[in-house]
Amino acid sequence: MISFVWAEDKNHIIGKNGHLPWKLPNDMKRFKDVTMGHPIVMGRKTYESFPNGPLPNRLNIVISRNPNYQVPDSVVLLANKSQLSQYVKSDEEVMIIGGEGIFKIFADDVDRLYLTKINHEFNGDTKMVEIDYNKFNLIEKKEGIVDDKNIYPYTFETYQKI
Ligand SMILES: NC(=O)c1ccc[n+]([C@@H]2O[C@H](COP(=O)([O-])OP(=O)(O)OC[C@H]3O[C@@H](n4cnc5c(N)ncnc54)[C@H](OP(=O)(O)O)[C@@H]3O)[C@@H](O)[C@H]2O)c1
Repeated sequence: MISFVWAEDKNHIIGKNGHLPWKLPNDMKRFKDVTMGHPIVMGRKTYESFPNGPLPNRLNIVISRNPNYQVPDSVVLLANKSQLSQYVKSDEEVMIIGGEGIFKIFADDVDRLYLTKINHEFNGDTKMVEIDYNKFNLIEKKEGIVDDKNIYPYTFETYQKI
């Protein structure tokens, strides 16, 4: 099963200058909870946005057109999605975590969406791909807790392909 995991603002912005445009620790926690134990698939730029290298306790799979791109032994480097099946089990939930180009590659394959909707407008340079929500059912929605560390209103939503 293929799942998308991402956070976007009111205008579907997801990134700015190679990083997230916001600080929302509760969303980082949700990301960790949702992806833990699952393979995570990401573009080379998203991989490079991690301050401490590969994310622990998840198989990190990086997509790049550069076959000489250097990754540690624990990380899988792919040139395209057709090689993915060699590294994940057929019954496994594979978490596609962005960015834009990588969501685009898997847009026709995705079964589940884990979306954090941030009810705020940010400046950014990277947008989420268009999703046809008519093809999905909302199966869970939870209001995020706003506090002094999580200052923007947000909701966690999960959708399943019909
Ligand atoms: N809000 C969120 O949930 C979220 C999630 C993820 C990322 N982000 C943000 O989004 C930004 C990064 O996203 P991005 O879209 O700019 O970059 P990205 O998708 O992470 O990485 C782009 C790179 O992936 C490789 N790639 C893309 N399409 C490919 C294809 N069809 N075949 C082979 N390789 C391909 C290329 O690597 P090479 O150049 O090495 O060939 C390309 O330069 C950052 O600001 C990040 O913080 C936000």
